[in-house]
Amino acid sequence: MSIEIETERLVLKNYCKTDLDNLHKLKSDKLVWKYSTKQVVNNIEQTRNCLLTILKNYDKDKFDFQALFIKDNLEYIGEAGILSLKQNYRAVIGYNIISEYWNNGYATEITNALIKYLFEKIKVERIEALSVEENKASRRVLQKSGFKNEGLLRNFAYIDSRYLNVCYYGMIKSDYNKNS
Ligand SMILES: CC(C)(COP(=O)(O)OP(=O)(O)OC[C@H]1O[C@@H](n2cnc3c(N)ncnc32)[C@H](O)[C@@H]1OP(=O)(O)O)[C@@H](O)C(=O)NCCC(=O)NCCS
Repeated sequence: MSIEIETERLVLKNYCKTDLDNLHKLKSDKLVWKYSTKQVVNNIEQTRNCLLTILKNYDKDKFDFQALFIKDNLEYIGEAGILSLKQNYRAVIGYNIISEYWNNGYATEITNALIKYLFEKIKVERIEALSVEENKASRRVLQKSGFKNEGLLRNFAYIDSRYLNVCYYGMIKSDYNKNS
């Protein structure tokens, strides 16, 4: 699915071939991947393969991250998107922002827009997101966006030779209607 979402400050749209350097900036930012099962990428060929996989997923109508830009100057700041959509009622979302752009409210802004799109346009019943328990910034984004922490998946992720707990966040339509 190809969606394009605009917010007050941001634009979210599909990656294209010309985004190789943009994606490499994100993939090679080791702070971004600290709490991820994905590894930091050190060479551009690996990033090229990641980009090709994303583009193939779009071609097969599969969900994947999309590129996130500042609307005014089209500066790339990271990625976000719908990562899965089960039978059009239950979606999973995610986001990764390049560290130099952290703490400007960007992840919260695009998360709120994805929530609005999913509940109002796609008419899903439920949206989910996962965050490593130690990842305070990501958990704060989900909390600010109105997600509820529904449970702890103990030792769910194996990252840097450690088992980490993962928080499972969810929002259902009635939560959204209450907040909006
Ligand atoms: C998580 C992430 C996307 C947040 O992006 P962002 O654009 O900085 O998010 P926002 O600015 O919208 O909100 C961040 C919030 O976390 C808070 N925060 C940041 N670091 C924090 C920390 N170490 N402890 C507690 N709160 C923290 C900020 O103060 C802010 O909350 P506030 O508005 O109440 O002050 C970004 O840090 C990132 O890409 N991290 C690495 C990848 C990642 O974790 N992806 C998500 C995987 S689930």
